[in-house]
Amino acid sequence: MNRIYFNDVVTRDGFQIEPNFIPTDDKVKLVDELSQCGFAKIEVTSFTSPKAIPMLRDAEEVMGRIARVPGVEYTVLVPNLRGAERALESCADEFNLVMSTSETHNQANLRMSREKSFAGLAEVIQYVNGRTPINVSLSTAFGCPMEGDVPQSEVEGFVQRFADLGVRGVTICDTTGMAHPAQVASMANNLQKKFGNLQLTFHFHNTRGMGLANVLAAVQSGITRFDGSLGGLGGCPYAPGASGNISSEDAIHMLDAMGYDTGIDIPKLLGLARKLPLIVGHPVPGQVAKAGRTCDLHAAPVQ
Ligand code: COA
Ligand code: ZN
Repeated sequence: MNRIYFNDVVTRDGFQIEPNFIPTDDKVKLVDELSQCGFAKIEVTSFTSPKAIPMLRDAEEVMGRIARVPGVEYTVLVPNLRGAERALESCADEFNLVMSTSETHNQANLRMSREKSFAGLAEVIQYVNGRTPINVSLSTAFGCPMEGDVPQSEVEGFVQRFADLGVRGVTICDTTGMAHPAQVASMANNLQKKFGNLQLTFHFHNTRGMGLANVLAAVQSGITRFDGSLGGLGGCPYAPGASGNISSEDAIHMLDAMGYDTGIDIPKLLGLARKLPLIVGHPVPGQVAKAGRTCDLHAAPVQ
C-alpha cells in the first residue's frame, strides 16, 4: 500500500482563527509533541501581518524555540516579500506561499487582485532563489463562499504558472468545505496527469461533513499528501462561514484501518488530540479522540 504523508496545520490554520491568543509556550510545546508523532511536515506558523492575523504574531519566537526533529519538515505560511524575509531569518524548511483562485476571496484575504498576488509571489520566488523549497497553497480551489464555482481550468492555470516558476509543490485547498468526492477525483486525476513532477497536496475542511469522503476520493485517485489539523480546528478568518480542517487523527485513523502506511504513532497522536481542548479552552470536532480507535474494545456489560 502507498505511503501517505501528513502535514499537520493546527498551529497555523487551527490557531489563526481561535478567539483567544494561544500562549507561545503552548504553541512550542504542541509543535514539539507533534514532531514526536511521525508527521512528514508541520505547518508551524504564519509570517503574515500581525495586524491581519494577531493570533500568530509570535511567529519568530515559536520558530526559534521549537526542537526540530530530523525527517520532519517545518513549513510556514508566507503571503509576501516581507513574510519571506522573516521566514528566511527563521530558517523554515519550506515556504508555503498563499493566494486564492477566486478574485473575491483573494481581495478579502490578501487585499489585492489575484494578478497582483501572483506578481508578488513571483517576486518572492525570485528573491528566495532556490534557498528554500517553495509550496503554493491555492485557496478556494473547489469553490468560493462568495463567488460559487471556481472552474477547474482556472485552478490548473495557476498551477501551471507556478510550475513554470519552478515551485516544488502546490496545495489544492478547499477553504470552506465546498468540495465533493466526484469533484475531488476529477481534480486529482487532471492535476496528476498534467503535473506529474509537482508535489500535490490536498487540503480539506469539514465544513459540510464531506472531509473524509474527499480524502478517500483523493487517495483512491492516487494523491498521497494531505493537510490535516489536530482535533479538526481551523479556518480562514477572511472566508465567510469557514470552519475546521479535517481532523488529522480521524483521517489518519481511517487510512490506517484501510491498510495505508501513514507513518504516524496513532495512540500518541490521540493522546495529544485529547489534550487540545485544554489548550484552546473549548471542545474540538475530532471524533476518534472521543470514541477511541476501532480496535480499542470495551468490556461486555455484566448480564
Ligand atoms: N509581516 C509583517 N508585517 C507585514 C507583513 C508581513 N508579512 N506584510 C505587511 N506587513 C505590515 C506592513 O509593514 C504594514 O505595517 P505598518 O502599518 O506598521 O506600516 C502593514 O502590515 C500593512 O502593509 P501592506 O503592505 O499595506 O499590507 P496589507 O495591509 O494590504 O496586508 C497582507 C497584506 C497580505 C500582509 C495581509 O492582508 C495579511 O497578512 N493577510 C493575512 C492572510 C492570511 O494569513 N490569511 C489566512 C490564511 S489563508
Ligand atoms: Zn485551510
